[in-house]
Amino acid sequence: MKTSIYYYTGTGNSLWAARRLGGELKDARLAGMRRAAPENDDAEAIGLVFPVHMWGLPRRVIDFVGHLPAGRRYFALAVNAGQVAGTLTQLKKIMKARGLVLSAGFGIVMPSNYIPWGGAASQEKQALRFANSAKKIKDMAGALGRGETGPVEKGPLWQNLLLSGLCYPLLYRKIPKMDREFWVDAKCNGCAICTAVCPSGNIIIEGKKPVWQGHCEQCLACIQWCPAQAIQYGKKTPGYARYHQPEITLADMRA
Ligand SMILES: Cc1cc2nc3c(=O)[nH]c(=O)nc-3n(C[C@H](O)[C@H](O)[C@H](O)COP(=O)(O)O)c2cc1C
Ligand code: SF4
Ligand code: SF4
Repeated sequence: MKTSIYYYTGTGNSLWAARRLGGELKDARLAGMRRAAPENDDAEAIGLVFPVHMWGLPRRVIDFVGHLPAGRRYFALAVNAGQVAGTLTQLKKIMKARGLVLSAGFGIVMPSNYIPWGGAASQEKQALRFANSAKKIKDMAGALGRGETGPVEKGPLWQNLLLSGLCYPLLYRKIPKMDREFWVDAKCNGCAICTAVCPSGNIIIEGKKPVWQGHCEQCLACIQWCPAQAIQYGKKTPGYARYHQPEITLADMRA
């Protein structure tokens, strides 16, 4: 079945997952959500692969759903760090409101990229998550290939009610301005890689230093990909190791 997989990623986990899934499925093509024109897509099946942000969908995914065509088989893979919560239920609901059916929704647990809460996990812990996720993606592809449908995956009830139901809507509104916490230290050399990886064009270079513009998506690509580790967020990040999926390169992020 001709399949399109649209991905959104800050640190490469979702791109890695999308590539793996595309490799398992027959006749699949990948495209980033940043440049896609799904209205012109003639695939019979469409998959969405994206990170979970604050127990729900990133704004870009919500916007993207608004452009999806009718009459396709839809599936989703919510890439998270252990708390998918009610993210896929949210997706199912907003798709239903547009007359679209999400026939399958899976989650995989990858290393966390949320650096305000801590630095990169050890190589061993990362490797374990990659191995478990690779296996799950294989199983997911098998289920999709057999045309299986089912309820979307979700977290325990308390996470769905408290984190997705209450915290997510409060935080979601604040995300664009959360870039106020970014600052740049003396290691910055003005290379502008932060501007190149930002999906929302939210960084400009002024006086050879990045300046954030207040329409952030909190993907954390800028802080995680800065080669000089010069971008900081709040007070703790100078001491935290950076993370990006090791098989994904800067060139992949710019593609
Ligand atoms: C702003 C933000 C919020 C996040 N919220 C969650 C969350 O609610 N639950 C979770 O399990 N992981 C959360 N994470 C972790 C990411 O979902 C996880 O690391 C994901 O694999 C990142 O994928 P990416 O590299 O494709 O961006 C969050 C990350 C960011 C940047
Ligand atoms: S990527 Fe890092 S070093 Fe390069 S301009 Fe941005 S902050 Fe400075
Ligand atoms: S400013 Fe940084 S965190 Fe915000 S959208 Fe751009 S790359 Fe992502």
